[in-house]
Amino acid sequence: MNELIYLNLGGVKLSKKVTKEFTANLPKAELHLHIEGTLEPDLKLKLAKRNHIDIGQDTIEEVQKTYEYDDLASFLSVYYPAMEVLQKEEDFYELAFEYLKRAASNNVRHVEIFFDPQAHTSRGVAFGTVINGLYRAVVDARALNVDAALIMCFLRDFSKESARKTLLESLPYKDKFIGVGLDSDEHNNPPLKFARQFEDAAAQGLHLTAHCDIDQKESIDHIRQALEIMGVERLDHGTNIVEDPDLVQFVANKKIGLTSCPLSNGYVSPEMKGKEVLELLAQDVKVSIHSDDPAYFGGYIGDNYYAIAKNFDLTKDQVVQLAKNSFETSWISDEKKALYLKELDEYVTAN
Ligand code: HPA
Ligand code: ZN
Repeated sequence: MNELIYLNLGGVKLSKKVTKEFTANLPKAELHLHIEGTLEPDLKLKLAKRNHIDIGQDTIEEVQKTYEYDDLASFLSVYYPAMEVLQKEEDFYELAFEYLKRAASNNVRHVEIFFDPQAHTSRGVAFGTVINGLYRAVVDARALNVDAALIMCFLRDFSKESARKTLLESLPYKDKFIGVGLDSDEHNNPPLKFARQFEDAAAQGLHLTAHCDIDQKESIDHIRQALEIMGVERLDHGTNIVEDPDLVQFVANKKIGLTSCPLSNGYVSPEMKGKEVLELLAQDVKVSIHSDDPAYFGGYIGDNYYAIAKNFDLTKDQVVQLAKNSFETSWISDEKKALYLKELDEYVTAN
């Protein structure tokens, strides 16, 4: 176990232990975080009360009891209905600002936050209500020393017409988000369904990413479509790529990021996919560690780093490489990347 490894250099004992504290304070970028997935039970209850919505539960324990899922579809069937408590701009602000405070405490220096406008517009909440609330929190996060940005996701189990309408609706707010993504139920909803919307988004200068969830029936096909046809700059999850050495070479050569989420993987499949992450690291793929839906999967980003480090005996160098990859594949300027990478170097030297 890496926790027990010590280097004895000239009588000086240097700890190589990857501790919880080391992963919590490690400077990092969070690139796979659904803001709706940060809705903690206490905030859910508070918003339900404030908005006079009967969610059928009155205590944190009762809310937690409803968190029963063992695959993506069963998770999503708990996840989407819970969003009903989000009604007003202030609710979206509070959700995001509460998350950003947690991000600051995990030394997240930069975060690119997913949001699902259709999950709200489809139940009568205006697009502006959602993005204005979230964006106000993004601006206020500067005071927390967290550099934040938004990524708008299309729900892939909704129609392409709905995605088109959403993209049109979003354009007046184009200065408030930096890219588009694709999430929700992947089965029978391939990336190519949204080729036109991704092309239009790219023409607007927006960045592109897409979920290619773990162990889907069509994982490799979807990864290939997203990479070779739609030209995504990152893949969310995407670790099934290890099944295809040619695609692994493709992402390594193009320095395309893969955002893996160990704790979420552990819920929707029998494992965290640590073996795959290590295999990708060994092949110089820019894989990194993130938290997906932390309020539902038992931990924020520091917990995800620690879980994979502990369960798969990662060395400090490997953990640091994962954090480096997160900055390198983020959508920030080269100057900012250099600044954060320097901070990371200094942290490693001091710890
Ligand atoms: N996959 C697809 N949709 C999602 C996810 C995910 O991991 N999290 C929230 N929505
Ligand atoms: Zn996700």
